[in-house]
Amino acid sequence: MKNLVISTGAGISAESGISTFRDAGGLWENYDVMEVASHEGFLRNPDLIHRFYNQRRIELTKAKPNAAHLGLVELEKYFNVNVITQNVDNLHERAGSSNVLHLHGELMKVRSLRHEERVYELPCNLLSDKGLETSTHTVDAYGDGVRPHIVFFGEDVPNFEPACRLAAQAHVFVVIGTTLSVYPAAALLRYAPASAQVYYIDPNPASVPSHVHVIAKKATEGVKELIQMLTK
Ligand code: APR
Repeated sequence: MKNLVISTGAGISAESGISTFRDAGGLWENYDVMEVASHEGFLRNPDLIHRFYNQRRIELTKAKPNAAHLGLVELEKYFNVNVITQNVDNLHERAGSSNVLHLHGELMKVRSLRHEERVYELPCNLLSDKGLETSTHTVDAYGDGVRPHIVFFGEDVPNFEPACRLAAQAHVFVVIGTTLSVYPAAALLRYAPASAQVYYIDPNPASVPSHVHVIAKKATEGVKELIQMLTK
């Protein structure tokens, strides 16, 4: 089977009711990025950051994978599919995708402040707080505080290197629902081999090199069209 690598951004979850970041009414219109998504912000006001991610976790439990997420699972019948996502939601996993690599972390996980390899999936009974919400009073079984398992702005993106290796093996590379404005994720497209077919699905696409086949549609529509093109 040929390798299909799919790089997704917030746009693929928009039709599940999850806010994107930079569209009108997006998350960054209501919050100061450097307050709620940076390491300095966490050091300055950890309670605000815990509350911000608690709210997003609760919203996520009310959201469901949409036809675009499910369409990527359908493509596993025809390709060896790897999904590389900038999203911190778990909608690809809940749709049934077999291989999902998160570049910017995972909303449903927190990790120890003292040992970052200790990662906990919420709701987790290891933590003194119950349910999906954490605070500065939440401690793990070792008595250590926790933080969201999210890559804050300015922090390293440890999964970028394995993502580049996947992109470099792509026969088909697809970008869905991203402004391609945040690095290093936005650079992934360049790691696809020159021989790869490249598609970009976005209703308001950023400018991309001429070899990229742009499908200027919403993800649910665009993925349906992509499946027809790739499986005919
Ligand atoms: N279907 C497909 N794409 C859509 C849809 C939809 N229904 N609705 C909006 N979009 C597109 C927009 O046109 C835009 O290109 O989704 C993209 C959303 O862009 P951003 O909000 O910038 O999201 P993203 O590109 O994923 O942001 C990258 O920035 O804030 C950080 O870490 C955060 O992972 C995020 C990163």
